[in-house]
Amino acid sequence: MKIVNFGSINIDIFFAVDHIVRPGETISAKSIEKRAGGKGLNQSIALAKNSKEVYHAGNIGSDGEFLAEYLENEGINTEFIRKSEILTGNAIIQVDEGGENSIVLYKGANFDNDKDFVDSVFEHFSENDILVLQNEINMMDYIINKAYEKRLKIVLNPSPITDEIKKFDYDKIDLLLLNEHEAKAISGKEGLYENIEFFKKTYPKLKLVITLGKAGSIYISKDELIRQKAYKVKAIDSTGAGDTFTGFFVANFYAGKDINTCLELATRASALSVTKKGASVSIPELSELDDFGKKLL
Ligand code: RIB
Repeated sequence: MKIVNFGSINIDIFFAVDHIVRPGETISAKSIEKRAGGKGLNQSIALAKNSKEVYHAGNIGSDGEFLAEYLENEGINTEFIRKSEILTGNAIIQVDEGGENSIVLYKGANFDNDKDFVDSVFEHFSENDILVLQNEINMMDYIINKAYEKRLKIVLNPSPITDEIKKFDYDKIDLLLLNEHEAKAISGKEGLYENIEFFKKTYPKLKLVITLGKAGSIYISKDELIRQKAYKVKAIDSTGAGDTFTGFFVANFYAGKDINTCLELATRASALSVTKKGASVSIPELSELDDFGKKLL
């Protein structure tokens, strides 16, 4: 089983601030740091902490070669990372004292996918393989249709939520991972149980994971409903916590681990990531998870 993540690759510029800047206000940052990021890149790294055959497909500009090297050093196959004429995607990230963030994205080379490139990538994957997608690249529909045609299992994290993604055909998706706000935006429903009912009725084959912040997370498939509590940690930077959760859950889920284990591992990994600065660099090693687990006992 190979996992191919068709996803964004960003240069993240982190500004440490007292509070997130308000309209019309100018504030000073306490520090600034440049790091590897993008929901796609972060998720690939989280996947590769758990799984050997992870491929990342996507585009970088001439300013982004260090990002492909970084992925490679993390054990990810980068043969489907293409050099684009457009500059690499960028994220301007403010992180406040409570670890909350606010992000402005420049899509850059992440939107340079075309049919030929997508077709060439899928020549190398088939029925037993998994496609992982977020919503920071172009040609999402085409990629999903191509993967569906080739019978790959499709995992979607519809983040960041957009009007287009709300209208997707989720029938083609095997596993959808999203937070409460994204679920509400897609279903148009308010309460959690109304949302669950909406997805169960509208897309009966879909497996669903909804993350609920401090209330933990929930897995739903047909009549199965499994809950996981959240772990309380001192938040330093929540950037990339959702990506960590997604990568850990997906890798373990398709490796055949039971759902309780998948949810618990993903929750532990994302809680630990929040205690460190940065997105991709805060994704924990499995050995760190063990130590953290012992403290929780
Ligand atoms: O999910 C976190 C990521 O969102 C950051 O790394 C940033 O690049 C944005 O895409």
